[in-house]
Amino acid sequence: MSLDGRRARIDRVLFTEEEIAAKVRELAARIRADYEGKPLTVVGILKGAFVFTADLVRALDMPLRVDFMAVSSYGFATQTSGIIRILKDLDRPIRDQHVLLIEDIVDTGLTLRYLREHLLAQSPASLRACVLLDKPERRQVDVPVEYVGFTIPDEFVVGYGIDYAEQFRYLPYIACVKLED
Ligand code: PRP
Repeated sequence: MSLDGRRARIDRVLFTEEEIAAKVRELAARIRADYEGKPLTVVGILKGAFVFTADLVRALDMPLRVDFMAVSSYGFATQTSGIIRILKDLDRPIRDQHVLLIEDIVDTGLTLRYLREHLLAQSPASLRACVLLDKPERRQVDVPVEYVGFTIPDEFVVGYGIDYAEQFRYLPYIACVKLED
């Protein structure tokens, strides 16, 4: 997510590197058990989910295919426009594949709902979503999320792939930011 010219500074750490790593291992154990013996395609959603996807597939440590989509809904605003643009679509067809969509955060739910519809239209064998951060207070549409890492309050978060105006994606932890007046 991003913004309107105001500077942001790190306010406090929400989840440390160690807490995130433990959660990734926990999610991977559940996913590995659910998909044992099934042809799995993981679809990471860029840019926000690039770090989470990289860590999750290594924690999964099972045969799978990796693909990416890039979408944008926020542009340089803090509020979603509600209009999702596909900047990069899948490289390979997903027909008859078990697809696991990987997102960094679900906020209004508009992006995830759009992605689910887009992927379901391509007849995968199954489709589930794994989201590291869930902000239920902000939800505008009801959308299923099968694997949730952390449920968080309605605060601006950055790090571990998540940006504020393209800053802070490199942080190894997740933090809340404060906007300066
Ligand atoms: C973020 C995030 C999700 C989406 C969630 O992406 O990665 O895709 O917003 O918000 P929603 O539930 O309100 O739709 P963003 O548009 O900021 O792009 P980025 O991943 O490239 O940073």
